[in-house]
Amino acid sequence: MSERPGGAATDQAAVDPPAPVDALRGPGADALPPAPHLLVTGGAGFIGSCFVRQILARGDGTRITVLDKLTYAGDRANLAPVEADPTQAARFRFVRGDIADPTVVDPLVGDVDAVVNFAAESHVDRSILGPEAFLRTGVIGVHVLLEACRREAERAAAGTRPGPRRRLRRAPRFLQVSTDEVYGSVPVGHSHEDDRLDPRSPYAAAKAAGELLVRSYVVTYGLDAVITRGSNTYGPYQHPEKLIPLFITNALDGQPLPLYGDGLQRRDWLHVTDHAGAIEHVLHHGASGETYNIPGAAERANRDVVAALLARLGKPWSLVRRVEDRPGHDRRYAMDGSKLAGLGWRNRVSFEEGLAATVDWFRANEQWWRSIRTGDWDSYYERQYGARLAHGLPAADIASGPGPNEGR
Ligand code: NAD
Ligand code: DAU
Repeated sequence: MSERPGGAATDQAAVDPPAPVDALRGPGADALPPAPHLLVTGGAGFIGSCFVRQILARGDGTRITVLDKLTYAGDRANLAPVEADPTQAARFRFVRGDIADPTVVDPLVGDVDAVVNFAAESHVDRSILGPEAFLRTGVIGVHVLLEACRREAERAAAGTRPGPRRRLRRAPRFLQVSTDEVYGSVPVGHSHEDDRLDPRSPYAAAKAAGELLVRSYVVTYGLDAVITRGSNTYGPYQHPEKLIPLFITNALDGQPLPLYGDGLQRRDWLHVTDHAGAIEHVLHHGASGETYNIPGAAERANRDVVAALLARLGKPWSLVRRVEDRPGHDRRYAMDGSKLAGLGWRNRVSFEEGLAATVDWFRANEQWWRSIRTGDWDSYYERQYGARLAHGLPAADIASGPGPNEGR
């Protein structure tokens, strides 16, 4: 990773693609027509559903079709606020299906101005237990979406792509939602968009592969595409397998909180409404072929995040168990956000207010998370945490005090 300003160009900058024809839409210009129709894949998940709820609640004429396979992580209840409001529901359609299935994808892409791809297997620990589904969705699925966009771009170039009100549509824009995990662990400094990719888990490798496919379609076919790399996201409707919701819901039930290793791994926390807002901003204003980091500007050690959520809940640190670490656990992620700031985006939610509101949301929405912590949840939990918790230790020694990365 290079520190800016004055950071040396990296090896990846040397292979930056030539500007494709569609890149004439530079930063600042709006890449989409007014009142666009968006295909949001993975829109029943945590971040995708926030993106959909946020846009439709604004009522600016945007229409959204969600395509979601409804894996264990997808939940139509996440879209209930949209479906319950007749004015929003009129601009919304839900299709259950797999992004890796061209018979489902092709007709849907044929009718939209942009595809925003949130669909992925998203949990690192599950990728360690079984990587295959990550590759199927993250590589084959992305390829199917890109092929559909390529075909539509050809139709647009030939003037045979029908749009609403007998107008012709331009080629669809493609936005790939990616992650800071593609940079790998970042011991010091901050990752920049042209830094080398160094994914270290099957999840991160699948995300990096998806990005490279997108890039290849920009270079080879001149596809209009942008990529975002978001940092650790938290907020309402997050699946309780992830650190913050897992620890909140376990603590509410008085169950142990399985903290990996020494708890001094560092993540940069981004509220889900800011992540979704930044993705929409890049969708409209990002330059084709470009990648944009979305940092949270809230770098914290895991231990300190856990202490903060316990304080909000009024629960004791004695619930925390120090358990066997995640294999290949990335120690730290941190990204530079100046490129996105240059597009005019600013996050709005501080970590302190966002975490407090998230704790309160989970406390108030017990039915939502209890319905997820049923069925396959118990077997997953046993596989992931059974032996860990059986051999876990009290974590009193890491409750507070400076860690090795503190004070940077
Ligand atoms: P999530 O697991 O909550 O949601 C993923 C959604 O995709 C689910 O609704 C699921 O049913 C759907 N899906 C999975 N495979 C599919 C397929 N083959 N076809 C159609 N739908 C499918 O994930 P999330 O946390 O909301 O993450 C969304 C995206 O953001 C992912 O691409 C993830 O890599 C990326 N991301 C997440 C974070 C984070 O901290 N959560 C941070 C940066 C980037
Ligand atoms: O950084 C972006 C990524 O953030 C996204 O791309 C992923 O989709 C998302 O899941 C998230 O990945 P992480 O692995 O960072 O998130 P997770 O919530 O699984 O873990 C956060 C930290 O907490 C990590 O250092 C591991 C630790 N942890 C996690 C769990 C689930 C624990 O100590 N105990 C746990 O039980």
